Amino acid sequence: MRTSEPKTIRLKDYREPPFLIDQVDLRVELFEDGARVHSRLDVRRNPSVQPESELHLDGEDLKLEEVTLNGEHLSASRYVVEDSQLTIRDMPDSAVVGVVTWIKPQENTRLEGLYKSSGMFCTQCEAEGFRRITYYLDRPDVMARFRTRIEADLKRYPILLANGNEVDRSPLEEGRHQVTWEDPFPKPAYLFALVGGDLVERHDSFETVSGRNVALRMYVEPRNQEKCDHALAALKRAMRWDEEVYGREYDLDVFMIVAVDDFNMGAMENKGLNIFNSSCVLASPETATDAIYDRIESIVAHEYFHNWSGNRVTCRDWFQLSLKEGFTVFRDSEYSADQGSRTVNRIDSVNMLRTAQFAEDSGPMAHPIRPAEYMEITNFYTVTIYEKGAEVVRMIHSLLGPELFRAGSDLYFERHDGQAVTTDDFVRAMEDASGRDLTQFRRWYDQAGTPELAIEDSYDAASQTYRLSISQSCPPTPGQPEKAPFHLPFELGLLGTDGQDLELQLEGSEPSGRSMVLDITEPRQEFVFTNITARPVPSLLRGFTAPVRLRYPWTRDQLMFLISHDSDGFNRWDASQRLATDVIEALAEGREAEVDARLVSACSALLKNDALDPALVAKMLSLPSLAYLIELTPSADVLKLHQAREQVLTSLARSLRDDLHEVYQRHPAPAAYRYTSEDMAARALRNMALAWLLSINDEQALKLARSQYGQANNMTDRLGALRAVVNSDFAEARQTLLDDFYQQWQADPQVVELWFAVQAASPQAGTLPHIKALMEHAAFDWKNPNKVRSVIGAFAGQNLVNFHAPDGSGYSFLAEQVIRLDPSNPQIAARLVSPLTRWKKFKPETADAMQRALREVMGQPKLSRDTYEIVSKGLS
Ligand code: ARG
Ligand code: ZN
Repeated sequence: MRTSEPKTIRLKDYREPPFLIDQVDLRVELFEDGARVHSRLDVRRNPSVQPESELHLDGEDLKLEEVTLNGEHLSASRYVVEDSQLTIRDMPDSAVVGVVTWIKPQENTRLEGLYKSSGMFCTQCEAEGFRRITYYLDRPDVMARFRTRIEADLKRYPILLANGNEVDRSPLEEGRHQVTWEDPFPKPAYLFALVGGDLVERHDSFETVSGRNVALRMYVEPRNQEKCDHALAALKRAMRWDEEVYGREYDLDVFMIVAVDDFNMGAMENKGLNIFNSSCVLASPETATDAIYDRIESIVAHEYFHNWSGNRVTCRDWFQLSLKEGFTVFRDSEYSADQGSRTVNRIDSVNMLRTAQFAEDSGPMAHPIRPAEYMEITNFYTVTIYEKGAEVVRMIHSLLGPELFRAGSDLYFERHDGQAVTTDDFVRAMEDASGRDLTQFRRWYDQAGTPELAIEDSYDAASQTYRLSISQSCPPTPGQPEKAPFHLPFELGLLGTDGQDLELQLEGSEPSGRSMVLDITEPRQEFVFTNITARPVPSLLRGFTAPVRLRYPWTRDQLMFLISHDSDGFNRWDASQRLATDVIEALAEGREAEVDARLVSACSALLKNDALDPALVAKMLSLPSLAYLIELTPSADVLKLHQAREQVLTSLARSLRDDLHEVYQRHPAPAAYRYTSEDMAARALRNMALAWLLSINDEQALKLARSQYGQANNMTDRLGALRAVVNSDFAEARQTLLDDFYQQWQADPQVVELWFAVQAASPQAGTLPHIKALMEHAAFDWKNPNKVRSVIGAFAGQNLVNFHAPDGSGYSFLAEQVIRLDPSNPQIAARLVSPLTRWKKFKPETADAMQRALREVMGQPKLSRDTYEIVSKGLS
């Protein structure tokens, strides 16, 4: 056990800072054995709060060398250095506080603060990393102007970057040089960044709507110079989009992107100097899949959009994290939807939400998008804060409509520019601009859990009316046994017997078109539609207008009908998933022995359908993932669900073998790779057909896979072929291709990560002994989060059959790795452990074994605060 429980931080204890900082002057000397940080802070007492005599500055793992006040050395009696604080006594109303600290970026394996990654210095300060660089008021409501002078050896670190604009550079003695940067925009310390390295620079430029020229620069290691085009193109598209859709213009003369191999998360929106995990920014057709291209497009946009939603207007405290993250995810997903197929985009987001966020919201870590408390804030960079947060903003968008929503966002940015604010300020701006009352809607911010909507309907032929009743409830979550009803938009349509949308008219109202949005506010509401001449099939929650679980007793015939007729693409897909889920569940529970022929005929029709968007067809044909099936099932039996899913997959593949071959031939690879929706859809279908055929050990498909693997001009097709073979029973071909792939790509870390993940996630290739062997591989590196994620993370998160092996070996393996990683990188260790906290979802024997593994972690004497919080909550 840990010796003492970490402190819980509560929103209700928020107080304004007693001191403010107007200006920060940093001088950072980079050396081979450490770094010296000279900081000068213009500090003054905050006039709007009760005066305090002591100034408390945050600091972690710092060696304090000097403290001065207005340039005078401070005597030892005037200050105290404790574990994580520097206290200055008898602080005057205003003063220049000087602090010199010595830190060791070379030994920083946590990757928070200033650290070294493959020879370059870089930083990650969100949420509380700046206090690992120097003593500071490290909280987002303290906003200061930063001037940063970096000094380093000229040969080793020719490139020295920080936020804002470069204002000075000069050579220094002993082969060193300095570059000085000034950021004119006041910002919280979490947006500070610094980079020093031997990097190549890729230039581009962007002319803003008002005609200003912005220099765009991307900095990468020399071997990655050819992997910048996609990110730069995406950046320019995102800059234009934010001007057009939100009226937001970029505000500095230069915008920089840096790629770093060792990074805890995806990327970081530091002012003017975004830092990215290499895997989220570097791409070429030969090395990155379509999915990676999409990921880069959305993350580049996301970080850029933060310049307004996050930087110009920031968070008052970390409980408000979703203010910037939920809004920015909503913005980036709308951006992505505008680049390709809106429907397919929505499907991907909802699929992720329903698999990962719904699971989080029904587990021990369930929290509202504005949490009331935390122990370690990095644990709250969650799918709830990000993805559910985005859904909540999307609901405001649906309730207000696009024009009023835009008026609301304009007001929000104008009213709060340069401020650190709350989610409530955001909602108020939306209310003030629209005149709508969002009082009840605000419950989305403080109630956790996924609401359930139960739908009942009845048709009365005599009066030609159709009644729909919608009841809502929300299951209890930790600390919240009862929930008040939510306000949500519910879009629906009614399909007539010919499959066309009926004209909708509510009793006593004007006709309202063929799709309408209902306002749901009550525990139970009834809607009566008139002039309905035959019993319709309802198309419910079109476009997934609210993040809820929907219960309606669909018959399989109704689902078949929706699959072929619904005018809402999202709901067509949803019906296909519900049909497949129903069939799989019936097999898993032993209620049915054979795969329902209707599913086969639905898939067959889809394969032959060339009127529908092929990208949508590929999504509709994809069976629900095992993770999603588990999420839907109380007391899940993983093996049974997996076997039922496999039975459906192989029986579909057998029945549709000829169609699959035909689809494969119908979508040949073009001579050159293009990142277009059409080509991506063709690749998705082609690779899906291959995977299905290999699931039944089709020899002819193995030939196709081998030749596709050998001839592919892009990574989507090469990896698609490799993955299909790796997941098949062709053990010899699997090994040959895996060896060949590694031989060819071993010098490229991003591709090696794909090679690890394709094995670690595979039921066939990713057995526990094989996972252990991968961890012994020369390319595996405990210090690199991407490697840890692509082996251990992929095993525990995607290879569910092997992770949930009945003997519990997967669980004790994971516990062991978490214990091993926790001392060096607690943030990643805490993320890795979370699959074990989902034990309530599983049948009793499984749940017991998972808890035993959690207790093993809990028993460690020196657990980090990060891992302690997840494990202790996971056991409660
Ligand atoms: N703000 C960053 C992003 O969304 C993520 C920050 C990572 N935070 C962390 N604690 N590692 O876009
Ligand atoms: Zn973000």
